[in-house]
Amino acid sequence: MAKMERAGQLSRRDFLKSGSAMAVGAASLAAAGAPALLRGQNLNGRINVGVIGTGSRGCYLTRLMAEQEGVTVTDVCDIYPPHLQQGVQDSGNDKVRAHEQWEKLVGQQDVDVVVVAPPLFLHVPCSVAALQAGKHVFSEKSMALNMKQLKQMMAAAGQSDRVYLVGYQSRMLDSFAEAKSLVQGGAFGKITQFYLHYDRNQTWRKELEDPKWERVLNWRMYREYCGGILTELLTHQIDMMLDILGTMPVRGSCGGEIILYKDGREHHDSLMGYMEMEDGVLGVVSGTFCNARWGSCWAIHGTHGTIEFMGDAFRIFWEKETRHLQSVGVQHKFTKVKLGQSLDVSDAPITEPDKLVDYRSATTRNASVKAVEHFFDCVRNGTRPVMDAASASRPSLAAFMLYHSSQDGGRQYTLEEIQAMG
Ligand SMILES: NC(=O)c1ccc[n+]([C@@H]2O[C@H](COP(=O)([O-])OP(=O)(O)OC[C@H]3O[C@@H](n4cnc5c(N)ncnc54)[C@H](O)[C@@H]3O)[C@@H](O)[C@H]2O)c1
Repeated sequence: MAKMERAGQLSRRDFLKSGSAMAVGAASLAAAGAPALLRGQNLNGRINVGVIGTGSRGCYLTRLMAEQEGVTVTDVCDIYPPHLQQGVQDSGNDKVRAHEQWEKLVGQQDVDVVVVAPPLFLHVPCSVAALQAGKHVFSEKSMALNMKQLKQMMAAAGQSDRVYLVGYQSRMLDSFAEAKSLVQGGAFGKITQFYLHYDRNQTWRKELEDPKWERVLNWRMYREYCGGILTELLTHQIDMMLDILGTMPVRGSCGGEIILYKDGREHHDSLMGYMEMEDGVLGVVSGTFCNARWGSCWAIHGTHGTIEFMGDAFRIFWEKETRHLQSVGVQHKFTKVKLGQSLDVSDAPITEPDKLVDYRSATTRNASVKAVEHFFDCVRNGTRPVMDAASASRPSLAAFMLYHSSQDGGRQYTLEEIQAMG
């Protein structure tokens, strides 16, 4: 009954229209004055890029940026000397400026773009300062450490006429676009459940020559710097799920344990939770460092079929049992199921019962490369990126909800409670 009332109060279309407002609550009021058009970069001018945090991801992005037509990596910054040196090398620019303080990089007048790739707790301070200094920002995911930072980021992005993109590169995958269009087109009937997970068999801990770098290099272990598996890994899967469904979770809970790695870390090595969406759809969210069998994957279950998404490929299964779907008001776009009739495989849009739709070929383009290209298109044309502040705030909100629950013995948290924080 409660679910029906909620669904009645806010239709999916209304929700999508009010998406950013609901996503960040009060913070979006500050963003309401956001410029309709962003200020594009001079099409003929070179674009100078500075990269903050030249660790593993920052160096990868440095190399991708340096490969772009008309782009020069002019500045790199890191507090760990070997990584700073690697950044200098990967910039491919023998005149690159190297900094130990990110504020110095942001203060360079001739830097047009700032790439933010340090640990999560620094994403918002660096991104806000860069936007306020008139730079475009490519920030790594996830968007913010906590609700206070998320509100600051939304306000700053809303007040800026510069491009702000959060690196959820999976949204650039052709396989994702196809999966999204199938789900939203009704191919799987009425969606009732989803499952998403990010599983690995690894410690996450880096061996250090000098323990003084513990918290700088093993930052993922500690609550001060990030939200563990939820903000670092599962946000990728949550981001895709929320983008496809177009809804937000209204409540959720999550249990977490350190089952294997009792090495002083603060974050759980295994967790399992659930979310209830505003239209009543239920989802399971899990992650572990103790078993990699399921990898990173998600599945959506509907009355007419299931889609299992594995990145560059997905698998489709059609329901074969007799169903009385019309009696519960389910219409289906691709099939003609009559009351008491089986859903025939030949009625399905794809003719095999468990078809693998495979995008892994020699021509498949890397999602991160596409995200970088998308970013520079936006910078040059003054357009808003797909993974903009409003959109990227949604997986953070869901992750915060589950994170607080996992730190609080699995107590259920509501979205409202999370939005009121900060
Ligand atoms: N989009 C993706 O698929 C993807 C993949 C990997 C990592 N990431 C994200 O990229 C970010 C970095 O991850 P990583 O794997 O490269 O971690 P990392 O530990 O290899 O690199 C982080 C770097 O930040 C540096 N750093 C710490 N404090 C700093 C400061 N005050 N100023 C400047 N530099 C500082 C560290 O010395 C380190 O070199 C994280 O937010 C992570 O979630 C995204």
